[in-house]
Amino acid sequence: MPKGKKTIYFCQECGHEESKWLGQCPMCKEWNTFVEEKVTKASGITTTKAMKETVVLPLSEIEINDHNRTSTSMVEFDRVLGGGIVPGSLVLVGGDPGIGKSTLLLQMCHRLIQIPGQQTLYISGEESLAQIKLRANRIGDFNDDLLLLCETNLEIIKEVMERKKPRFVVIDSIQTMYSEDVSSAPGSVSQVRESTNIFMHLAKGLGITIFLVGHVTKEGVVAGPRVLEHMVDTVLYFEGDRHAAYRILRGVKNRFGPNEIGVFEMGQSGLAEVENPSEYMLSGKPQNASGSVVTCSLEGTRPLLLEIQALTSQTNFGMPRRTAAGTDYNRVNLLMAVLEKRIGIPLSGYDAYVNIAGGMRINEPAIDLAIVMALISSYKNAAIDERLLVFGEVGLSGEIRAVSRPEQRVIEAQKLGFETCIVPWVAVRAVKNIKDIKVIGAKTINDAVAAVF
Ligand code: TYD
Ligand code: MG
Repeated sequence: MPKGKKTIYFCQECGHEESKWLGQCPMCKEWNTFVEEKVTKASGITTTKAMKETVVLPLSEIEINDHNRTSTSMVEFDRVLGGGIVPGSLVLVGGDPGIGKSTLLLQMCHRLIQIPGQQTLYISGEESLAQIKLRANRIGDFNDDLLLLCETNLEIIKEVMERKKPRFVVIDSIQTMYSEDVSSAPGSVSQVRESTNIFMHLAKGLGITIFLVGHVTKEGVVAGPRVLEHMVDTVLYFEGDRHAAYRILRGVKNRFGPNEIGVFEMGQSGLAEVENPSEYMLSGKPQNASGSVVTCSLEGTRPLLLEIQALTSQTNFGMPRRTAAGTDYNRVNLLMAVLEKRIGIPLSGYDAYVNIAGGMRINEPAIDLAIVMALISSYKNAAIDERLLVFGEVGLSGEIRAVSRPEQRVIEAQKLGFETCIVPWVAVRAVKNIKDIKVIGAKTINDAVAAVF
């Protein structure tokens, strides 16, 4: 083996390095994710050059200019970015293949180039120019400020970016890019890391905002976006049920703002923004059906009304079946144990299925009370009033505990025409001044049951 070259085993999920192959990654605990890669030490910037140019500044002399942010003209996208695109930032947009990442970013390009002087470069390593053109035709008319390039060689891309100096660049996707300095295949951890590193220097050095597309993979064929989460400024995940039309853009890390969500709907001509997601999520709610209740979850700073569904039926086997779609399975089991022990409902003889309607994934404990109420409603076969909303965390002794920002949740319920809210008892003080909605405080599950049925 030539000097300077060595073999490292990388976990394709989280990028953890080992000198020998392991069955399970000690970092992320995923199985069978280690892949052998040959790495050569990247040349990098020479230290002497970097040292000469280094200037040290006092904090007070550093100017920030928040007006520099560019709007994407999509309210939902801007919110997730923390109020617009920050110049020179590196944004990772991750998600399952086919979820709509390329569509979202091409649409963003479409909006950006409406303003003169916002030249945008879209670099695709996955699709041909004709394929991009087909997608673009569905989105709208593009002017000459959008430049396209089909390329995967980083040296060429770097040269083009330095020559054209666009304001924004989209790289679709980071897993197809390769640098000749790294000997392993495109999509491997060392290639993905090296490519991201080069893009980071380009973004900071030339003041170009770069959007990187990263596919989330389970099979470990290509390195997942988690490998580079710590290198970029902003990490957004595009998620949703591929079979449902709506998509959630979720901020997971943002150096320039809070983590928020944006809601979109995939349609005939690309993605449309959903301005009132609560209304959208509740649109298919059945009427007078048992086992269904509405709750409010807080995503970032944004309240979202959701329908929780539960179905219980007497089990035919010794071991009851339980499933939880859209929420934590263990949490559902725990809540059922609380119901059995504290309320005396014999759920151990029942199969139970819990579902968050619309395919959303929520792990917030504030939806506990709604899960519990939906289970009781299904067990009793008694429908819950449609204009009633419940939220609260349920503790092991059946008590209902406080949740964050109750007033925002109640206001959202009131806006959508709900008449009654059952909230944790400790939150009543905070929400009692909200008009046009009746608030009932509950200390225990029993209090809530008495108020609902
Ligand atoms: P795409 O952006 O190619 O996904 P990704 O880049 O994340 O792999 O989206 C592909 C899906 O979106 C595909 O199933 C077709 C659908 N789609 C629409 O429904 N309407 C549209 O206008 C467009 C452009 C795509
Ligand atoms: Mg794509």
